Amino acid sequence: MSVFTIEGCHPLSGSVAIQGAKNSVLPILCATLLSPETCVIHNCPRLTDVEHTLDILRHLGCQVTWEGDTVTVGPSKLTCCSIPDTLMREMRSSVIFLGAMLARLGQAELSYPGGCELGPRPIDLHLSALQSLGAEVREAGGRLFCAGRLTGADIALSLPSVGCTENAMLSAVAAEGVTTITNAAREPEIVDLQNFLLTLGADVRGAGSSVITIRGGKTLHGGEYTVMADRIVACTYLSAVASAGGEGNLRGVDWRLLSTVTSVLTEAGCRVESTPDTISIIAPRRLRGVRPIRTAPYPGFPTDAQAVVMAALCKTDGATVFVENMFDSRYRHVDELKRMGADIRTDGRVAVVYGVPRLYGAKVRSTDLRGGAALAVAALGAEGESTLTGLGHIDRGYADLAGDLAALGAKIVRKEEK
Ligand code: UD1
Repeated sequence: MSVFTIEGCHPLSGSVAIQGAKNSVLPILCATLLSPETCVIHNCPRLTDVEHTLDILRHLGCQVTWEGDTVTVGPSKLTCCSIPDTLMREMRSSVIFLGAMLARLGQAELSYPGGCELGPRPIDLHLSALQSLGAEVREAGGRLFCAGRLTGADIALSLPSVGCTENAMLSAVAAEGVTTITNAAREPEIVDLQNFLLTLGADVRGAGSSVITIRGGKTLHGGEYTVMADRIVACTYLSAVASAGGEGNLRGVDWRLLSTVTSVLTEAGCRVESTPDTISIIAPRRLRGVRPIRTAPYPGFPTDAQAVVMAALCKTDGATVFVENMFDSRYRHVDELKRMGADIRTDGRVAVVYGVPRLYGAKVRSTDLRGGAALAVAALGAEGESTLTGLGHIDRGYADLAGDLAALGAKIVRKEEK
């Protein structure tokens, strides 16, 4: 079993390069299926979620190599159009294969995706978007069967789901005619996916706004692409410095994508400065509580940053209210933060963090990906030693959390324990 040992309350000082974005690389790897020609993807972070995605690509018949941070996918001969339950269970984003397989093969068979740690995560919008394009969707024995000749259509989303927007984009690329997705998700990772599709020769416009237009049916070719930096990993490291105190410099990340989080940290008393591709933060000894933080689709405050920012605000002078609007069950880290001495009360979607003068090192366990990272952030601001288990969750989204925090000056080591 792997364990982080973290010695807290040492102000940080250091610099770290931000890894490639998990939420970009996963749909981009699915999209490599769209053309039979080879795609070369750079800046792929070493994540278990990426490994699982590559396992699915191999299962479908792709040639896959991964050297350094570059993945090469050769999807010339697909030998299969179904994904077994064991591979689907590993992560939620495997549902994006639905759109990619329909586009390339005209059919797809898979089971409901895994990753329900945040409460119920339905895929009704994904399925109805594909049906709008002409796919027939059937369910039997827990498996989904989708098939059909796709034609461009208007897809109006009832909410701006990230995954559904991606699924609709990938299938629409193969649909003859024009597809318009309205109320599309506006996340930067959608823009990254559009940019990748453009390198393959697709005609996709509007990503980053609420209306995305795709002129489908073009013959695509292979391409080479570099994945954007992970804004949530950057938020985690800013929160780490805010929690421990001291200063840190993040390289290779666009500050404009983090402005909702940096404005909260500034309000809490940190000094944040940016150049076009670096962000530096200086944190005081004690932060203050801030105005209510409400999670929302981009460009609002990201739900994925809620836990790490909450961890940084446990020791504030004053209280902070959080309202989680995106997922039903996203306060599972709170009980673990309380083990370190945090005073947090939750009621449904609301959590109130009453700042305490100090946190104490404790034995804590990751409850989910960002919740686990939040415990590391809190431990950096806690007196004494903490041990953090359940690192499997963290490895899904952080290529080297311990190494990166150590580069920022944290006293953290990863150990194998029996
Ligand atoms: C993506 C991100 C995840 C992030 C989330 C919200 C990836 C791989 N994951 O997840 O890190 O936390 O966006 O920013 O990119 N919903 C439905 N029906 C559907 C689809 C979604 O009701 O068919 C609901 C969900 O339950 C949720 C909300 O829509 O309440 C937003 O979910 P969505 O944007 O789809 O999140 P994901 O794409 O799963």
